[in-house]
Amino acid sequence: MNEEKLNQLRQKVQNLALDYHKKDDFTGWFEVIYTDALGNPEEVPWAKMQPHPCLENWLKGTDITNKKALVIGCGLGDDSEFLAKKGANVTAFDIAPSSIEWCNKRFNNSSVNYLVADLLQLDDSWKNSFDLIFESRTIQALPISIRQEVIEAIATLLKPKGTLLIVTRLRETEDSPDGPPWGVSERELSQFYQYGYEEITRIPYNDPNNPSIKQALIEYQRNRL
Ligand SMILES: C[S@@+](CC[C@H](N)C(=O)[O-])C[C@H]1O[C@@H](n2cnc3c(N)ncnc32)[C@H](O)[C@@H]1O
Repeated sequence: MNEEKLNQLRQKVQNLALDYHKKDDFTGWFEVIYTDALGNPEEVPWAKMQPHPCLENWLKGTDITNKKALVIGCGLGDDSEFLAKKGANVTAFDIAPSSIEWCNKRFNNSSVNYLVADLLQLDDSWKNSFDLIFESRTIQALPISIRQEVIEAIATLLKPKGTLLIVTRLRETEDSPDGPPWGVSERELSQFYQYGYEEITRIPYNDPNNPSIKQALIEYQRNRL
């Protein structure tokens, strides 16, 4: 995607998110992005149409055969498909019905269980039940005012000894910048410790589209409930 198009889409996201946030609706705008795209991934600013390189790198040294995996805010499904190809039993969900419809169309023979669901209203039966959770750029797409709720919702899904992978922008101060996206601060990430998480590794990521922005894949293990 060229620079001009990317900037246009970023502006659209910011305006749309702002309009929805004024109505205290923090998630309604995602569906608008997917429906406005009319099936063209070039109109979805975060669509890569390939697995995230951080996930590909992480998986080089790891066997996930038969692991019960969950992808949060799965978008157009490339990360979910990649995990399934590597042998995991994958459930993937997104709040935007059109993204799930798109996934089902793109991957019509997929073993991935694609669902429309809201991270903040998941069924209690999902708690403490996954071996591997992948979250890419969803925390940062939701405002800082609900971050505590969002982190709690993610943290309570993993089994003890399970692995959580987060791909996110990092924010160096506790200030609230204009967004979306809103990078994640160290104080916000430290909330995972309350749920028995230990940070195992943090691999910096240089996004060629945003070379000046600090991003990383963070791997956590849950040591206890
Ligand atoms: C920035 S996009 C990233 C998509 C994908 N993870 C990726 O990296 O390509 C954020 C995604 O999270 C989804 N999302 C936002 N809030 C959500 C929520 N509360 N529950 C489930 N999905 C949500 C959006 O619809 C969108 O697909």
